[in-house]
Amino acid sequence: MATKMSKVSIITRREKFEELRIKLFEIGVEGMTLTEVEGCGVQKGIDLLIRGVKKHIYLLPKIKVDIVVSTVPVQDIIDIATKVLQTGEIGDGKIFVSEIKEVIRIRTGERNEAALINSID
Ligand SMILES: Nc1ncnc2c1ncn2[C@@H]1O[C@H](COP(=O)(O)OP(=O)(O)OP(=O)(O)O)[C@@H](O)[C@H]1O
Ligand SMILES: [Mg+2]
Repeated sequence: MATKMSKVSIITRREKFEELRIKLFEIGVEGMTLTEVEGCGVQKGIDLLIRGVKKHIYLLPKIKVDIVVSTVPVQDIIDIATKVLQTGEIGDGKIFVSEIKEVIRIRTGERNEAALINSID
């Protein structure tokens, strides 16, 4: 049976990225994509005072970290991300988990699990 592959997308503040990256590499994550994004959650942004004038900013800068895994347990990634990123303040972020249908390593044509593991060393 083919191994299930999952994508974990973590949307959060930039500040703790380095700590998150180090901890994810420690558990065997083999790749990730970081994207600068803008977003809002349930508060739909924040009120700011700009030169005494109240302005509502709907979208705030965040980062999105996408990690696709097959052998590394998704729950371990969720546990690490929660531990590193949770301050208890609004805007800590969200984690979205989805299934991945296919992965192809372009250099070799390897697919799926073989395309996710290190085949060089
Ligand atoms: N339902 C959603 N769909 C897509 N992206 C979302 C959704 N909710 C949050 N996000 C993304 O996650 C980022 C962080 O969300 P945020 O932590 O504010 O979620 P929240 O549900 O409002 O929780 P909190 O009440 O702790 O602020 C947002 O800026 C947005 O990019
Ligand atoms: Mg929010």
